[in-house]
Amino acid sequence: MNIINEQIRGFLEEPDMIAALSNISALINMSYDNLNWAGFYFVRNGELVLGPFQGKPACTHIPFDKGVCGKTYRTKETQLVDDVLQVPDHIACDSASRSELCVPVIVNGECIMEIDIDAPIPSRFDECIKKEMEQAAEDIASAYVSHLWKL
Ligand code: SME
Repeated sequence: MNIINEQIRGFLEEPDMIAALSNISALINMSYDNLNWAGFYFVRNGELVLGPFQGKPACTHIPFDKGVCGKTYRTKETQLVDDVLQVPDHIACDSASRSELCVPVIVNGECIMEIDIDAPIPSRFDECIKKEMEQAAEDIASAYVSHLWKL
């Protein structure tokens, strides 16, 4: 287990969901260089709603049929976008964003939240970060179940 996933597991011992995810967004933001946004979107009332994050203020509500985050919800698969300018319905919360990694958190076969990370340079994200964030998503899903979190 690498250091960032170990640290994330440590933060997931915190029983309050907002407190735990706030620290995890800060940890992600400080652990990787060249990021301009790192945070969470929650699935609430048929849409994605902004959760704890680090970075500039961002879109508060995203419909399931829009953007990289909407595609992550629909496919239940990680979206690794090397160049957001090539994604016609990409939602630019920060015009500096050039690449993006969005990972679904799956509980009982449903996407319940997403980890979303933006970078101000193209092709920032590789298989290594993707695997680390997919491990983080699995650990968050386990914590969600064991702490009886609600969205
Ligand atoms: N770029 C995302 C929107 C969320 S922000 O990046 C924080 C999208 O296209 O869905």
